[in-house]
Amino acid sequence: MMRLDRFLASQRPDISRSSARELCRKGLVTVNGAPAKRSDIQINEEQDTVCVSGKCIIYRKYVYIMLNKPRGVICATKDRLTETVMELIPPELRRDGLFPAGRLDKDTEGFVLITDDGELAHKMLSPKSHVPKTYFVRLEKPLEPSAVSLFSEGITIDGGEKCLPAQLSISDNPAECLLTIREGKFHQVKRMFLAIDNKVLYLKRISIGKLALDENLPLGGCLEVLHKDVDKLLSRK
Ligand code: URA
Repeated sequence: MMRLDRFLASQRPDISRSSARELCRKGLVTVNGAPAKRSDIQINEEQDTVCVSGKCIIYRKYVYIMLNKPRGVICATKDRLTETVMELIPPELRRDGLFPAGRLDKDTEGFVLITDDGELAHKMLSPKSHVPKTYFVRLEKPLEPSAVSLFSEGITIDGGEKCLPAQLSISDNPAECLLTIREGKFHQVKRMFLAIDNKVLYLKRISIGKLALDENLPLGGCLEVLHKDVDKLLSRK
């Protein structure tokens, strides 16, 4: 159960709790077909049908947004100086409580999940979850084929930290590859290549779990992840 004004404000970015009160007073809000004159009544968000000006709301407890992050934007909820990923969310997907689940560096592009589902984010980011994340990498120097086994055995990065086994697939152009890692150490991909005396020139995350970044999503674009696809974010296969 939930208060009607809270329900409206959580589901419709254009409605605040105070405007919900006004809409109810004007008779524009119906619950199961009957006008709701007061916005402080309790409704069953899972079962009741709530409409505003005849438009019914499809209840979504949480939203999951796939963003194709461009360079120059940071993964934070707020920043005084630099544009954040939150500023790229289109108005129709905005709601309270959204945050980026995980970070990409300012100069990294690609898949960032933005959600208000703290439990999913925790599961996705927990070091124990080992959710695979795949990156497209362009390097300063071509890779030797031997790099594949070095990465799959678990490479040691600066400071002596050993990484979990990672899958490296070298492209036809040997200065490009796909790398799948199952953890999220600080600047991990860049540090892994530094450990084999190479340098990342361009980095883009192309998948999280079994969910791939939509190829048609332009840089800076967002789309809502369908609920049937949400579990793919946690898949370890
Ligand atoms: N590894 C990095 O070095 N940077 C990122 O943004 C993500 C992974």
